[in-house]
Amino acid sequence: MTRRDYLEWMTAAAAATAAVRTVSAAGGDEDRARRMKWWHEARFGMFIHWGLYSVIGRHEWAMEQEGIPVAEYQAYAKQFRPKPNAARDWAKLAKSAGQKYMVMTTKHHEGFCNFASKLTNYNAAQQGPGRDLVAEYVEAARAEGMRVGFYYSLMDWHHPDGARCATDEAARRRFVDYTHGLIHELMTNYGKIDVLWYDVSWPLDAAGWESEKMNKMVFELQPEIIVNNRNALDGDFATPEQRIQAAKGAWESCMTMNDSWGYQRADDNWKSPKTIVRNLVTCAHDTGNYLLNIGPKADGSIPEESVRVLTAVGKWMEKNGETIYQSETCQPRRSEFASFSRKGNTLYMHVHYWPGSTVALGGLTSQVKSARLVASGKPVKFEQERFRVRFTGLPENAPDEPVTTIAIECDGEPNQDMDQIRKERPRLGVGV
Ligand code: GLC
Repeated sequence: MTRRDYLEWMTAAAAATAAVRTVSAAGGDEDRARRMKWWHEARFGMFIHWGLYSVIGRHEWAMEQEGIPVAEYQAYAKQFRPKPNAARDWAKLAKSAGQKYMVMTTKHHEGFCNFASKLTNYNAAQQGPGRDLVAEYVEAARAEGMRVGFYYSLMDWHHPDGARCATDEAARRRFVDYTHGLIHELMTNYGKIDVLWYDVSWPLDAAGWESEKMNKMVFELQPEIIVNNRNALDGDFATPEQRIQAAKGAWESCMTMNDSWGYQRADDNWKSPKTIVRNLVTCAHDTGNYLLNIGPKADGSIPEESVRVLTAVGKWMEKNGETIYQSETCQPRRSEFASFSRKGNTLYMHVHYWPGSTVALGGLTSQVKSARLVASGKPVKFEQERFRVRFTGLPENAPDEPVTTIAIECDGEPNQDMDQIRKERPRLGVGV
């Protein structure tokens, strides 16, 4: 099965689940709203993919894609010897980038547990690291005031029952008990956990995984937690991957900064700070979250490019964070030169390509009351006509990088109507 097959399989499994519609989270809508409040306000989180694949440095799917035998792969468990408390640097970077929560791989598809477990010795405490890496991560995240999330892959390439559980009931029983047992350990040994982020439910469905029971156990142990939708149930939020797509309920778009989740030393396809900021705004526009990944090296250090990009994003967030956190749905839609977010009656116009001393916006039907540059707080002069607003007296060069944001305070919820420009723009005096 190729990676593409897995992804297709997951899509089909999700559709089947949606057809059955099972209740997957504790409590009702009110309970969910309460549990999710912080998450909705946060908007921006850090994803961390770290495991034995970080030793290999060729993407987290190397074991499968290169057909590495289990016995050969296991050897990396001894070579994995990260420096102590590497997670402190991740948490500091996350904080300075304006991220409010972190989600770390506790076990990826390779089956290696980054935490101390009584259920397998294929775990960090008993292998190369010689200590509980999840415990270090939790402590580091909390020290920086970050909310704490655990990623957990149901699919397991290492466990002998990981594939045969699909066709052998005794194997399924053992593997489901093992899986619930590991999740039980994660939900018990680290204090309050804020997010449980399941991944790839191949090769079982919700009934096979006993996902209802799984979530019930999770909510009993962690009544405040939120869970995603990748254990074949709907969960509390949807998880569009490598794309930004608003869903009906809560959603979080997860994305890599280059093309790989796990450390891939040859992957130099880095997104620019401008792309990251624009993506963040696109999520904020539709009240979604952005979970942006780092793939630390085997020693735990963060690839320099990721540090560079996140630091630039952080500088922008420091001054422009009000345009992202707690954003509300925004009617004006992204165009080529700018994207938008909103809070109350304030429209934030994020200008991607700075035109010079005058910036114009077409089709705004709300009355502008005032305008300012968000980064400096400086007031901006404006002239409003029927079909456009012109912001004038601005610097020739973009005053802020990677995008400059103008806060436009309106007389009501900001509204834009491009149709009326097309239909009613005065044409008198112009040749046909
Ligand atoms: C996919 C990949 C996995 C990655 C995840 C993040 O499911 O299989 O490697 O962890 O996406 O969303």
